[in-house]
Amino acid sequence: MTKLSLSDNEFCSFRDLIAERSGIYFDPAKQESLKDNLLERMAECGLTNFSDYLDLLSSPAGSKEFDFLLDLITVPETYFFRDRAQFNALERLVIPEAIKKKSYPAASLRIWSAGCSTGEEPYTVAMIVAAAKVDIPIQILATDVSNHALEVARQGVYNGRSVRDVPPEYLKRFFSKKGGQYSLDESIKQMVEFRYFNLVSEPYPLVEMSGWDIIFCRNVTIYFQTDATRKVIHNLHQSLREGGYLFAGYSESLRYISDGFKTLQMEGAFFYQKGPPQKTVKRKSRKFGRRLASTTHITGSKRAKAGADSDHQEIQQVHAAAKELLEVGQPEQASEILNPYMKEATVHESLLLLQAEIELNLGDLDKAVELCERIVQGEPLSSAGHYLLGIIFRTRGDEARAIEQFKKVLYLEPKHALARFNLGELYSRVGQFENARLEYANVVRLLEKTPESLDQRFAGGFSQALLIDTCLSKIKALEARAPGTAGGRGDGKKR
Ligand SMILES: C[S@@+](CC[C@H](N)C(=O)[O-])C[C@H]1O[C@@H](n2cnc3c(N)ncnc32)[C@H](O)[C@@H]1O
Repeated sequence: MTKLSLSDNEFCSFRDLIAERSGIYFDPAKQESLKDNLLERMAECGLTNFSDYLDLLSSPAGSKEFDFLLDLITVPETYFFRDRAQFNALERLVIPEAIKKKSYPAASLRIWSAGCSTGEEPYTVAMIVAAAKVDIPIQILATDVSNHALEVARQGVYNGRSVRDVPPEYLKRFFSKKGGQYSLDESIKQMVEFRYFNLVSEPYPLVEMSGWDIIFCRNVTIYFQTDATRKVIHNLHQSLREGGYLFAGYSESLRYISDGFKTLQMEGAFFYQKGPPQKTVKRKSRKFGRRLASTTHITGSKRAKAGADSDHQEIQQVHAAAKELLEVGQPEQASEILNPYMKEATVHESLLLLQAEIELNLGDLDKAVELCERIVQGEPLSSAGHYLLGIIFRTRGDEARAIEQFKKVLYLEPKHALARFNLGELYSRVGQFENARLEYANVVRLLEKTPESLDQRFAGGFSQALLIDTCLSKIKALEARAPGTAGGRGDGKKR
């Protein structure tokens, strides 16, 4: 059986069927692991070739078998209090705000964990609600497509890895430990209802799946292609009540996915609220519109579209011209070109960013910070805005704030090689040598695997090869330090 080979055509047929029914997309690098999963299921079904198994999955009786396959191909990785900052925001801001909007005492607070895996996420929510003594009825629904994961969730028994981030007071209050296993208290288990639900099967049953106050859908769509992600997020948007909240995972930014949400931030956590997006930087300038209207003779919607296209072109041209001047060492002249555009009520993000770079070049760090803050206030998910803020704080010698900004960049773009490099530099500077070594190693790994992770806008003359060499020599130097400091404890003290 193991000698069977999965042809490229067969791989594509399975890949497309799985993506269509579950959203999960296998790229070619995962062909071997998919093959292993298929072979395992084929052995269970007594089948000896891939095309018979594909026929079975495609037949009307195939949906049960598809669920068994899903148990193997889904990624169940999860743990309690994963991304703690989001749970802090849930406890301190989102739950109190959501309750305020309720017509107490009739209404209940409804929370849905979509893609709950083995239950750690919805149970974390339940513990927080229990500890907060919320005096309003609470419904917590947790759904997944893996029946196996749902079964584990219903048992409520976990290993040490799952509970590693549970705060000690919660561990003591809500778990009992027996032989290395942690059993969740019955009172918490009863707060959560687990159910099978496939997020890509449409339409969502509106009666049950609408009017949610809070939805968690974290680390589910990372395995999807963009179209499937858009579909799921659209459906979750429909399922939320007006003003309801959505928690997405680390690296699952809704930027370019949906404009039906406002982005909120609290102490390092990003999350979303249903409602019109707060955009202050990307809007069309009225001046461009006026200029176009006076120089052309087109009308109606054609004019609107031509206006938008022309604005876009104008911004691109202005940006290119100013950037070129900055690159040849003429920041003042670059600034002159941008100057008229900076006076608009709304300025395109790329122009603000370039002006901030120019100010940095001219040494006006306060002005540069002000411009970057304008960008991230208008668009909190602007990784470029956070990146430049990081660079400015680093230039100022404010390591703590620089680290905070680069961490935000990585939250939004985990593969941002230059943000990792900067973190490496900053960690070295504050004496966190092991963290520094890890970040340099991350840069090497990233650039070797995905050279495009080097953001050319900010590469500043660093080629991929040069950056790899630089990181390798920094790793070597860190490893050569005396024991206890090299690759050492990362105690955060300046040396
Ligand atoms: C990596 S886990 C994330 C668990 C948890 N949300 C967290 O962030 O810790 C991803 C989960 O999404 C589930 N999933 C994948 N595709 C799904 C779909 N189409 N509908 C519902 N759940 C899905 C998987 O079965 C898996 O349990």
